Amino acid sequence: MLLEVKNLTTEFKVKNGTVRAVNNLSFGVNEGEILAIVGESGSGKSVTSLSIMGLLSDNGKVASGEILYRGEDLLKKSEDEMRAIKGDKISMIFQEPMTSLNPVYRVKDQIMESILTHNPKMDKKEALKHTVDMLRTVGIPSPEERAEDYPHQMSGGMRQRVMIAMALSCQPDLLIADEPTTALDVTIQAQILELLYEMREKFKMSVMLITHDLGVVAEAADRVVVMYCGEIVESADVKALFEKPMHPYTLGLLKSIPRLEDESTDPLYMIRGMVPNPLHMPQGCPFSDRCDRCMDICRKKKPELRPVGDHLVRCFLYENGEETK
Ligand SMILES: Nc1ncnc2c1ncn2[C@@H]1O[C@H](COP(=O)(O)OP(=O)(O)OP(=O)(O)O)[C@@H](O)[C@H]1O
Ligand SMILES: [Mg+2]
Repeated sequence: MLLEVKNLTTEFKVKNGTVRAVNNLSFGVNEGEILAIVGESGSGKSVTSLSIMGLLSDNGKVASGEILYRGEDLLKKSEDEMRAIKGDKISMIFQEPMTSLNPVYRVKDQIMESILTHNPKMDKKEALKHTVDMLRTVGIPSPEERAEDYPHQMSGGMRQRVMIAMALSCQPDLLIADEPTTALDVTIQAQILELLYEMREKFKMSVMLITHDLGVVAEAADRVVVMYCGEIVESADVKALFEKPMHPYTLGLLKSIPRLEDESTDPLYMIRGMVPNPLHMPQGCPFSDRCDRCMDICRKKKPELRPVGDHLVRCFLYENGEETK
């Protein structure tokens, strides 16, 4: 396994207490696979990736757990060691490209800098050639000319491609893509996903694809982890998950995907209620207040994540390894 996250718990100090954004989370990413992490806003997806990258804000810390990259715990690495790993072995594309592209530098300078940092022996001419090649690889037309642009001169889709080019320029083994398509319109979204798919094949890398959109998952992923309130509620192969979703939350997410072929005029399904306040989590299952199939026990006790068929599910409906009707 390329990356193995074991019992990760990440907390933030806030004015009124401590928020546990990720709670005892365990999952792995295999060589060459696209693992999708799905969940609503606030479920802890970005915090998980920032914990892996060692990029938590000052008020946050990993309270416990291990993050094993090829068997070595990233949490035990020094800042210098982490810097060498980031970009070289693990790269990340952030949720909002403008926050990670510097507006005052030309696109080519930003990509070249990242290439030269990781290949100090390369000369500038070679780095520029590599930069233009990368821009071409991610489908930017006239890459020699566009390399001269400043980020604001590009469209959102082009900027996202630049981000991907930058993240891939050092040929990482693992790419963490945090909502790489959210800010884009549907056609461009499909193109960017297609691009990630191609890049995975071309560079033989693994991808951790973070999204709140199960539609995106169906197109791109091999395996899916569904998160709710900082915990895994279900995980399975993408085919198994779509054929037989088990957790009521997964079912709710699936029912909320708009479908082009659906001709009914009914409003789109929405999971009722809201994610609980992380400072006031319910005593039992965190999803109990919103669940159509809530039972007495769900309000009293927290379910464990357990194997049910070829899924892992955290729900009392599957207490005996199969669904209670
Ligand atoms: N810097 C921070 N300080 C305090 N709380 C934080 C901080 N960053 C994240 N959190 C809390 O951690 C929880 C998870 O946030 P996270 O950003 O991981 O959600 P997400 O799943 O990425 O959501 P989205 O889909 O909106 O990007 C939220 O409750 C959030 O309020
Ligand atoms: Mg996020």
